[in-house]
Amino acid sequence: MSKRNSVRPPSSRKAAPAEGEPSRRTPKDERGGAKEERGAAKEERGGAKEERGGSRHPPRPAAAAGATGGSSGRTPQSHWLQAASGTPVPRTPNTSPDPPRRDAPRRTLIVAVTGASGAAYAARLVECAVRAGRRVHLIVTKAGRLVLADELGAPLRDARDLAPLWPPEIARHVEYTPAEKIGGGPASGSYAAEATVVIPCSMNTLAALAHGLAGNLVQRAASVALKEGRPLVVVPREMPVTTIDLENMARLASAGATVMPAMPGFYHRPRTVADLVDFVVAKVLDRLGIAHDLAVRWPGSEKSGPGEQLPESCD
Ligand SMILES: Cc1cc2nc3c(=O)[nH]c(=O)nc-3n(C[C@H](O)[C@H](O)[C@H](O)COP(=O)(O)O)c2cc1C
Repeated sequence: MSKRNSVRPPSSRKAAPAEGEPSRRTPKDERGGAKEERGAAKEERGGAKEERGGSRHPPRPAAAAGATGGSSGRTPQSHWLQAASGTPVPRTPNTSPDPPRRDAPRRTLIVAVTGASGAAYAARLVECAVRAGRRVHLIVTKAGRLVLADELGAPLRDARDLAPLWPPEIARHVEYTPAEKIGGGPASGSYAAEATVVIPCSMNTLAALAHGLAGNLVQRAASVALKEGRPLVVVPREMPVTTIDLENMARLASAGATVMPAMPGFYHRPRTVADLVDFVVAKVLDRLGIAHDLAVRWPGSEKSGPGEQLPESCD
């Protein structure tokens, strides 16, 4: 199969059920299931240790490269792609932000969205993380909400506004807190998050993080990640950047954060904007050691792979 053919269009990507989705079960099954889940929780905690390898840094991409089990296909239902294209999506009734008990074993990923362009990166990351068995605590700044409304048509006034972004089986694993709510759980070091990702990260938030500010819940969650030695991934988006921005990135990197500017590659031969989004999101997931099946890996090439001799002239 040619490499171009190996890049599946979004519409053909399979819509696997989110991991941990409930099935029809009897009360007896449920009791048995609870035991299983406690076992699974234990296993997962063990797995977390293994995945992190005792280091404050997330595993190298190689650790995740062969990982399987995550499914991140786009669903045909309401989600950020439809929202971005302006298709109206019905609002669902308000649901409790507290996840049901059966979700307890899911590890929590904090996804912080700020007012930089690229809200689609965050939407896709949340979708993939939930499908890979995570619960997501979504924190959005005021400017982030402006950009979400502008780019994805999702103003995020309250939890009901998650509906345009993700189908219910994803949204039910997402807890949303506006960044102004400084008393939210992620403000505390005792809030056991697996990792924190600031995506997209504005130069404003980048500067705050680089200088230890914690004036809103995004900034506080990120500084908590640093002080607790948990993985912090920052995805800045700006162009061009000033030396101030570059110095802020360097400061953050030397404090232990992973700085991954939103710079999509083209070697996976993207055909849609969604393919470009997937490239960046896949890099973040790799860095976190979260399994995914986004079609962005370099399969090697007989014709023009790295190390091949380039032709002497282009005539
Ligand atoms: C539509 C829109 C797009 C923006 N894009 C960017 C951007 O790509 N990068 C950036 O650093 N700031 C961008 N900004 C500016 C930030 O939103 C602004 O600096 C804001 O104060 C950031 O606040 P926050 O860091 O609390 O989210 C944009 C603003 C708007 C309204």
